[in-house]
Amino acid sequence: PTPVARAGESGEPTVIAHRGASAYAPENTLASIDKAAKLGFSWVENDVQRTKDGELVVIHDGSLERTTNVKELFPGRAPWKVKDFTAAEIARLDAGGWFSPAYAGTRVPTLEQYMRRVERNHEKLLLEIKNPELYPGIEQQTLKLLGNQGWLDQKHLGRLIVQSFSADSIRTVHELKPALTTAYLGRPSVTQLHQYARFTDLINPSYGSISKGYVCTVHSVEGAHGRPLGVFVWTVNDADTARKVKDYGVDGLITNKPDVVRAALEAG
Ligand code: G3P
Ligand code: CA
Repeated sequence: PTPVARAGESGEPTVIAHRGASAYAPENTLASIDKAAKLGFSWVENDVQRTKDGELVVIHDGSLERTTNVKELFPGRAPWKVKDFTAAEIARLDAGGWFSPAYAGTRVPTLEQYMRRVERNHEKLLLEIKNPELYPGIEQQTLKLLGNQGWLDQKHLGRLIVQSFSADSIRTVHELKPALTTAYLGRPSVTQLHQYARFTDLINPSYGSISKGYVCTVHSVEGAHGRPLGVFVWTVNDADTARKVKDYGVDGLITNKPDVVRAALEAG
């Protein structure tokens, strides 16, 4: 199954809450996907990396510095890279206090915890494999965890997309599980589009890097599952941009403010 109706088929592009509803709750936490669900959005996006001892965790930056209190707890461990900390150490960090005192005590979720919450919330996930060059084998490990939780069963495939800025990583994911929907993050040239279309279904560029003509070009190429390649753009946080990219014909908008984007799309 292909999870994402093309915009022309559904009438409206899909709205995806970027790192959860990250304008309103700390990014990449269970609180941020709870917030997305509360606002009425089913699609959320996250970033997956790996700890020193091999646990998959949900966090955007390669360093723990910006989104946790790691400097206070581990002052001598600069530059505080995710890959240099154990899962037990990361579990001690506060990943919410930097955002607002109201979220103090929020944790960096493991991917396992995160997926259980996605399931509990009846959500759908655009999962980004972040910095895969730092984590050899992360594609196999991620799919194994997803498979163990049933996410790769036919009936759930429509709720999951795996994306990466690394074409190699996406090719690997596609080879491991050809039925899974994949997305390449970036703005490939026309030549690259035809190459990547063998292993991806979506092209997800930044909104500032594209035009209506580019979206049209992407749509003219057949993706890995025999349908036209789709386009999800990021990170659209204001009404004017939302209306503009809707006019471009994009199939999805990835946003920190899903409520703002939805209102703009409905109005426009
Ligand atoms: O989903 C698109 C977007 O997340 C890519 O950029 O840096 O926010 O992971 P970044
Ligand atoms: Ca991301």
